[in-house]
Amino acid sequence: MSAHPIFSAVECRGLQIPSKLVFAPINTGYASLGRPTQKLVQFHAERSGLGIGISTVGNVAVDNDAVTNPQTLVLSKEGDERRFSVVSRAIKKRGSLAGIQLAFAPAALDPPRNWKAKDVQAEVRRLNMIVGQLSPLQMNTYLETFLKGVQLANRADFDLIQIHAAHGYLLSLFLNPTTNLRTDEFAASNHWLLDFLGKLRVATRGLLSFRINLFSGLRPREEEFQLALGLANRLASAGVDVIDLSAGLYTLDRTLIYPGTLRDERLPYYEAARLMAEDLACLVAFAGNVRDVRILPLDMPPNLLVNVGRALIADPDFARKSHDGRYTEINFCTRRNRCHYFTRSRTGLECGVNPRLGGKRDE
Ligand SMILES: Cc1cc2nc3c(=O)[nH]c(=O)nc-3n(C[C@H](O)[C@H](O)[C@H](O)COP(=O)(O)O)c2cc1C
Repeated sequence: MSAHPIFSAVECRGLQIPSKLVFAPINTGYASLGRPTQKLVQFHAERSGLGIGISTVGNVAVDNDAVTNPQTLVLSKEGDERRFSVVSRAIKKRGSLAGIQLAFAPAALDPPRNWKAKDVQAEVRRLNMIVGQLSPLQMNTYLETFLKGVQLANRADFDLIQIHAAHGYLLSLFLNPTTNLRTDEFAASNHWLLDFLGKLRVATRGLLSFRINLFSGLRPREEEFQLALGLANRLASAGVDVIDLSAGLYTLDRTLIYPGTLRDERLPYYEAARLMAEDLACLVAFAGNVRDVRILPLDMPPNLLVNVGRALIADPDFARKSHDGRYTEINFCTRRNRCHYFTRSRTGLECGVNPRLGGKRDE
């Protein structure tokens, strides 16, 4: 039996991505004073290799003031890159490309532990204020920290650098016309983005990826899709290699970021991602509820990558077993959300079905 076409290779900027199934960026909390721990190295080594095109380290803050919690990884100054290069080496040794997601969470975001905002309008007004209060000087300084992060990530030998512009992080708030009501040079559709992209493109040695929101849940779906498509086109024409589509704002409704329940096996973002992939010449990736590769259409656009998050947390051999057709051997995620360590007031990722990651086993 031949493997699903998702396991075919694709080339980009002279780099061979060995599979279209990629490990989604995951914030594990496996950090000590901002540095990757041995547990993180092991975590990514196990989630690399046959069937996994790229293994991306999630949520690496580009500044000490841009962390989401004390367990956040930080890549901000000379010397930080040494420990990160241990992670990229471990991934590449197994045969996948190594990716790193650079992120900036404004300190004022201060996410609560609950999954949904009790008062959506009040939260949107708060986000408007966070965006509105930053001075152009501060914003320029923050954009510079990304460029520094890119230089360090190059030195740590990552093949793909992803800029986190989804989920309510700084850039997603600035790119969303509902959360960004500014009318100055940092208005949502102003030229700052193109200037920033130009510098990023020059600075990035390998593949440049942007994670953006398809939907934030603030406007009608079709309108949000058109906004995301417009943004994706701007990114692609500025030389971004991979547009990575996700959804949801962390402080508004986390169920959009981590969709699906044990019974609901639909892929809520596939159709929009397919349309976008057909419209764009670059690579497009989507995420959300992929727990069995057999539900992926066989005629997916050739430039579409598939992120897998929780299925690979639960079973690091998910891709290898799926590639070999050994579906009955997969240790499936039960969607109990034990991996959400921050929401559960834990210090690091655990899993209810993967005892190697610690935590109480699900019944
Ligand atoms: C524990 C956990 C941590 C995550 N951390 C990040 C992150 O750091 N950055 C990010 O963009 N997405 C993050 N996500 C979202 C995933 O990348 C992915 O988009 C989402 O889980 C949906 O894919 P899945 O259904 O295959 O899990 C995280 C998801 C989980 C479950």
